[in-house]
Amino acid sequence: MGVFAKLFAHRGPQAHGHGSHGHGSHGHGAGGHESSGHESSGHAAHGHGVMSHAGSYDRLTRLVTLGRRDRIYAGLAALSGAAPGDHAVDLGCGTGALTRALAARVGPTGLVTGIDPSEEMVAFASRSATPSLQYAVHPAEALPFDDSSVQVVATALAMHHIDPDQRPAAVAEAHRVLVPGGQLLVVDLQPPRNRVARHVIDALTGPEMANNDLGAVRALMVDAGFTIVDEGVRSVAFGYVLARKV
Ligand SMILES: C[S@@+](CC[C@H](N)C(=O)[O-])C[C@H]1O[C@@H](n2cnc3c(N)ncnc32)[C@H](O)[C@@H]1O
Repeated sequence: MGVFAKLFAHRGPQAHGHGSHGHGSHGHGAGGHESSGHESSGHAAHGHGVMSHAGSYDRLTRLVTLGRRDRIYAGLAALSGAAPGDHAVDLGCGTGALTRALAARVGPTGLVTGIDPSEEMVAFASRSATPSLQYAVHPAEALPFDDSSVQVVATALAMHHIDPDQRPAAVAEAHRVLVPGGQLLVVDLQPPRNRVARHVIDALTGPEMANNDLGAVRALMVDAGFTIVDEGVRSVAFGYVLARKV
């Protein structure tokens, strides 16, 4: 196990079934516009990539981005197309870096909901909760939003944490909840081409990160009915695919 592998370590099962996740009744968002803090839905951690150690993860992300994390995520949020008044959802929000950047774009008349199956991550992120910035414990493959109710779904560095057999469901869920014309932005670390660098990443974080394949996720997006509108790399290491629901 690598140096940071413990940090990225996967939690064991916490014995929470999905139960009924109620697609029909949430209106504007999982947490509701009025509540603050976070909502625990009973969808807590159970997948192989669910993370703990929220505080250490948060510090690490500041460190490896040389203090530029919030600026990088602001750029990613801009890329998503989120605009004032929108409802945006951040899948696998972790400690909330992208969620907060999205909140700055949708403003006080909008709503951003960060979801993550890790209760620890959601509890940490919820320190930044406001009426228009909410967090909830949910996996990406079972979203607590109505059909066609969300303008933007975004996700950063989380797709490779979702069980591979659940990724098609996660992409299909994003498609279901988006309004026609709504956008899905998937960002993940671009694995280095260099074999030595790839070994280093593998040793530090584990094989999922070293081998994460944005191309495979892009194919899932096309299969789900999305039209790809942009793709590329930002800030050296952040590969992205932006797609629209037609
Ligand atoms: C590397 S962190 C990324 C956090 C944050 N998006 C960021 O960019 O800093 C990956 C996150 O994905 C979450 N995750 C794992 N399985 C998931 C699932 N099935 N659905 C949504 N998120 C999941 C983990 O708990 C973890 O918080």
